[in-house]
Amino acid sequence: MNDNSDDPTKDEPRRRMVKPPEGGNLSGRHKGHTAVKTARFRTQSSAKWLERQLNDPYVQKAKAEGWRSRAAFKLIELDERFHFLKKGVRVVDLGCAPGGWVQVAIKRGASHVVGVDLLPVDPVPGADLLEADFTDPAIGLKLMELMGGKPDVVLSDLAHNTVGHKQTDHLKIMGLLELAGDFALDNLKPGGAFVAKAFQGGETEQLLLRLKLAFETVKHFKPKSSRAGSTEIYIVALGYKG
Ligand SMILES: C[S@@+](CC[C@H](N)C(=O)[O-])C[C@H]1O[C@@H](n2cnc3c(N)ncnc32)[C@H](O)[C@@H]1O
Repeated sequence: MNDNSDDPTKDEPRRRMVKPPEGGNLSGRHKGHTAVKTARFRTQSSAKWLERQLNDPYVQKAKAEGWRSRAAFKLIELDERFHFLKKGVRVVDLGCAPGGWVQVAIKRGASHVVGVDLLPVDPVPGADLLEADFTDPAIGLKLMELMGGKPDVVLSDLAHNTVGHKQTDHLKIMGLLELAGDFALDNLKPGGAFVAKAFQGGETEQLLLRLKLAFETVKHFKPKSSRAGSTEIYIVALGYKG
């Protein structure tokens, strides 16, 4: 299982990435595929990860445009479709490292972003970024203190490091999504939006039901920039009833 494809902690730390080759485009066609020899890596999955990064047109485009993650394109697509990042909105970003979504939120008009991640995130002007475990019960309060009022948008791209044990991974995925949903339901401003990474088969009927009761609309959306082989999908809940 390899759903948390943008997770920098997955297999190889981002900061150890080598410069990708020139070429390639968003249709996925490349001038030349770069192969990576497995023998130089600790594990075969590390070699595969690097090979995929080197040949991924979104990774190359993110680098060229100055986004910290290829995931930035997912949020751009989500917002182009659902228009929740309006001018002046206040945003909480759960699982924000390395900061691609924070950059996008600010660029598209957010006046303040508060983010949290287990990993440190380089500063982004306009954002308060916390290095902490979101599953710690004290963290929700801390995020709200930093926000200084109710957010208009709660984003969650939270993804744990998969362990390869199907049931354990499933429980972890559901746990993070449930917590993100609870946070949104407890804290959003009326009219607000909750946008969260989910995995097909990884969300509970219970959470969906709660969201459907609490928001005007609840939709699922898979951005083109989300890898086709991944079961990742985004929940977009708009118009929080308060
Ligand atoms: C897919 S990445 C987020 C990418 C981000 N949206 C971006 O554009 O840069 C998922 C992140 O969730 C974080 N994460 C997973 N579990 C977490 C937890 N319990 N608390 C805080 N962050 C967590 C991981 O460390 C990882 O950086």
